[in-house]
Formats: sequence, structure tokens, C-alpha cells
Amino acid sequence: MLDATKIRQDFQILDQIVNDEPLVYLDNAATTQKPKAVLETLMSYYHEDNANVHRGVHTLAERATAKYEVSREKLRRFINAKSTKEVLFTRGTTTGLNWVAKFAEQTLQPGDEVLISIMEHHSNIIPWQEACRKTGAKLVYGYLKDGSLDMADVATKISEKTKFVSLAHVSNVLGCVNPVKEIAEQAHAVGAIMVVDGAQSAPHMAIDVQDLDCDFFTLSGHKMLGPTGIGVLYGKENLLNQMNPVEFGGEMIDFVYEQEASWKELPWKFEAGTPNIAGAIALGAAVGYLEEIGMEAVHTHEQELITYILPKLQAIPGLTVYGPQHPADHAGVIAFNIDGLHPHDLATALDYEGVAVRAGHHCAQPLINYLGISSAARASFYIYNTKEDCDKLVEAILKAKEFFNGTF
Ligand code: ALA
Repeated sequence: MLDATKIRQDFQILDQIVNDEPLVYLDNAATTQKPKAVLETLMSYYHEDNANVHRGVHTLAERATAKYEVSREKLRRFINAKSTKEVLFTRGTTTGLNWVAKFAEQTLQPGDEVLISIMEHHSNIIPWQEACRKTGAKLVYGYLKDGSLDMADVATKISEKTKFVSLAHVSNVLGCVNPVKEIAEQAHAVGAIMVVDGAQSAPHMAIDVQDLDCDFFTLSGHKMLGPTGIGVLYGKENLLNQMNPVEFGGEMIDFVYEQEASWKELPWKFEAGTPNIAGAIALGAAVGYLEEIGMEAVHTHEQELITYILPKLQAIPGLTVYGPQHPADHAGVIAFNIDGLHPHDLATALDYEGVAVRAGHHCAQPLINYLGISSAARASFYIYNTKEDCDKLVEAILKAKEFFNGTF
């Protein structure tokens, strides 16, 4: 069991007053707060070890390099990749998905298909739009049934033409968990490559890329207690060997001649330029923090919160929750609207009560259009949230509703 009250003591930022109210931070799908251990790792790296990696032979350079590579090993273990060769440091999920879509451009041809879903984040749509535009391949969408991915629809859309399937593991709007392991099997049966956007899953549940048997998996450090600007792209070694680097320059080369160059081995052939060394090391600290709690406990805690709050939200007259309606099917992200109340007004009213939620299209405009709405409010939960936070959210929504009901 996770003790959220104790965990909160590691997050000084949460202990503050916003608009005369104690802060209730429920925008964790956008970014999470950072525990003391992560902030101290950043500080001590810059205080004691700061140097460039893989370049110098001096003591600081060797220390920085060792810490950077130890962090890669921590990330390998966190997602259970076979080898650190398969763990590439990136700026985040967006970079990872762009790199994979670039890889797809190496082989996609007119007539080929890429399957994604209507619930994807823009970072898992636009790179594929570009890859398809450049190669003449077709971008195909899987749609929804009862607020979740329609698996029958997906099954009919995976065919011999499908070359890549790229799906969110957890939707950042619907909060549904997609059965990516099952879909990977279907994709592999037709020889397609399975890509998983793990931005909203890796922070919240145990990830085993070997068990999922996905070919690529992406995550963002800042959504799992780490700093911004650091993430991981996992890829199976044989595929990464076939994949051209996306960026070229220092750090990723073996030999450079006047007219050509050769690349370092994996994973470094993808890491051109000075990487986000401090970010990578601090992400290692974030992973260490999560592992100490245990990803099962993280997951159970969020499930408890969702089981507690979802019925309370559903009971509010005029409030629509998107995505699965049963708590067991709903991850720690709840998007909702209230009849007649614009989500931006709602989010502003909640902020007056100290409650931070996101409102807007959540970087998922095709989904928002598909749902027939223009935007939604979204509350998203993490390890430091409590049932009291849930109560405060409900209370603030009721207050906002009462206030605005007088005005329309
Ligand atoms: N992708 C982040 C979100 O869904 C920013 O809020």
C-alpha cells in the first residue's frame, strides 16, 4: 500500500496556497511534480559531476558518463528491455514517435497502410501523416466503442497492407487502457511493426516491453517525476540496427571522412550532440523513486482513487465523463464536460478553489471532433493525490456549477 500523505512530504511544491486555497494538483497527465530525490540529483550532478559524456578522460567526464549510462540501465530495467542497446535517450515521447515515423519512411510505399486510432495524441498522428504524405502510404484509423478502442474495428483494419500499427497504451483523454499486447500479436501476424506510445502508461503501471512484444515503446520523463526534455525510445535491437539516425553530428559517429561517415554502435548512433545528461541522470532517480514505491502499488493507488471519484463525478447532474464508465476500465485520467459550461470557464473556476486541471483539446483534436465536442476539462491523478483531493475536486465543481448556473 502506498502512503500518499507520506509521499507528499517529498514534494514541496504541493505544500502551497493557490488563490487562498491549498493546492490540489490534478494535471498529472500534462506533467507530474518532482520529488526531492530528483531535484537533489539534478543539483548534485551540477554541483559535483558536470562534464560532457563519452568524450573526456578526466575524472568528471568519466563520472558523468558512468552516471548517464547507469541511468540508461535503470530505464532498461524499468521497462524490461533485453539490453541497454535498445534504450535510446530522447527529448520525450514526441521525439521517439517522430524517429519511428522517420524509420517508417525508409520502407513505406504507396498502397501500404499505417494503423493508428482516433484517440491518439497529436504526437502519434502528425508524424504518421507526414510519413504517409511523403511515401504515398495510407493512414487508417481505428475508432471507438463504449468509450474504448473498438477491437472488432481494429481487427478488420489490420491486413497484409498494414506495415505499422501505432497506438497509445493509455489514452490521455479517455483514460482507457488499450490491449496493446493483443494488438501486437495481430500486427505481427501480418508482418507489421507495433509501436506503443507509453507516455500515459509508463508512469502508472509496470511495463514489460518483452511481454508486450511491442517493437517500439516511448515514454516521457516529465510525466513520471523526472525533468522535462528527457525521455526514452525503446526499440528492438534488430530494428534499431536497420533504422537510420535521425540527427547527425558529434557523439554519434565512429569515423568521419571528407565525404562520408560511419556511426557508433547502438544506442549511441541515435544520440547526436551533447545529450540532456542531467535530465537522464535525474530520470534514473525518478525511476528509482517509483521502484521503491513499486509500480503495482502506484497502479493500485490510482485505481483506488478512480474507484472513489468516478461515481461521484458521474452522479453530478449534467456532467459527462468521456471514456470507459466503469472504474476498473479507467486509468487515472478523467476528461469531462458539464452541460452549458465551457471547460475553460470551469478550469478557471476550479483554479479559484486551488484545483489545477487541464481544459482544452488535450493535443487530441481528431478525438475531440469525433466526440462531437470542442474541448473538455480533465483531471489526472498520481501517487501524491488523495481522496481529500478527489473530494475537493467534486466540491469545486459543484461550486462552479452553482455559480455559473446563475449566469446562463
Ligand atoms: N500530452 C500532455 C497532455 O496530455 C501534454 O496533457
